[in-house]
Amino acid sequence: MSSTLSDAFRTVPVHIRQNGQLDFESVREVPDSHTWQDVDDYPSVDAAAVGGVPVVDLNDPNAMKLVSDACETWGLFQVVNHGVPVSLLQDFDAQLKRLFSLPTERKLKAVRLPDDISGYGLVRISSFFPKLMWYEGFTIVGSPVEHARQLWPDDHTQFCDVIDEYQKEMKGLAGRIVWLALGGLGITKPDLEWAGPNGEFEEANAGLQLNSYPVCPDPNKTMGLANHTDSTIITIVYQNNESGLQLLKDGSWVMVPALDGALVVNVGDLLHILSNGKYPTVFHRAIVHQTRHRLSAAYLFGPPPNIQVGPLEKLIDHNNPPLYKSLTWNEYLETKTKHFNKTLGKLRIASTT
Ligand code: OGA
Ligand code: NI
Repeated sequence: MSSTLSDAFRTVPVHIRQNGQLDFESVREVPDSHTWQDVDDYPSVDAAAVGGVPVVDLNDPNAMKLVSDACETWGLFQVVNHGVPVSLLQDFDAQLKRLFSLPTERKLKAVRLPDDISGYGLVRISSFFPKLMWYEGFTIVGSPVEHARQLWPDDHTQFCDVIDEYQKEMKGLAGRIVWLALGGLGITKPDLEWAGPNGEFEEANAGLQLNSYPVCPDPNKTMGLANHTDSTIITIVYQNNESGLQLLKDGSWVMVPALDGALVVNVGDLLHILSNGKYPTVFHRAIVHQTRHRLSAAYLFGPPPNIQVGPLEKLIDHNNPPLYKSLTWNEYLETKTKHFNKTLGKLRIASTT
């Protein structure tokens, strides 16, 4: 076989597609479009040095207090004995790998269109930052069938089956964890009408954000996923035995260790509001590696889109006035689109004292 000019062209170092997506298959150095100056905006500390990110055993008889304490002091924790079958996590991991190892050309067939929520593409918060992230994502809201057909014309069902099963398990787990967190504040099922008579969160809304952080020639000047909080009640993150998620605690970046079989849970903006500020929403980001491709998935759990969400009445009294206005998730997301990391500040009720 003769080597042709077009073969030589395949090694062109950097390739940015028309939608801004970097072709990570061919990139050999970090282009200016992906070079960040402020990766070290805060110092990084070892998790052990700050007491370790809490790990909660959901079978512990004290699980409610453990979850509540972790929400209050960290806004983020890991859960073990969470009841999600190991075999499902393995299948899910295999599908994540299968998806992101497809050739870029194929992934672009399922690209997220400008007015769409679901599909393959850049990180959704890209518009708030001058530089692009070392990242590719796949967002699933509702059924993934249409996009899965474009990715695997001959076999889309295994992906869809695993994703459906994973979302079902996550919904159950998210409901359990939210009740542990709220229970720790004295909130009971009748206090949250939209959760349904048995507190099953039948009407809850959720999305699944699949994240891929390809190997990067220079991780010190790139960002995987920039500093943000989640616009959720809680988020449950799966990470495939590869650390990279960091949370901002007391002015330092703390790495969340990759614990085999554990899931990461973080407080989102809406739980911060519901708890009237008692549970902090947590700033977090993801960094990338030079030799290891990291995959993760965030299950984004929220309320029905048109229900008023505000500080829970039981938490409000003369000494504890509401800190935030009530609004629907749709309104919250709209505000976030405008104000991003300053959104909660904009919704804060000015103190009268
Ligand atoms: C997210 C997120 C963290 C990670 O998707 O919102 O924070 O580790 N992901 O990928
Ligand atoms: Ni996040």
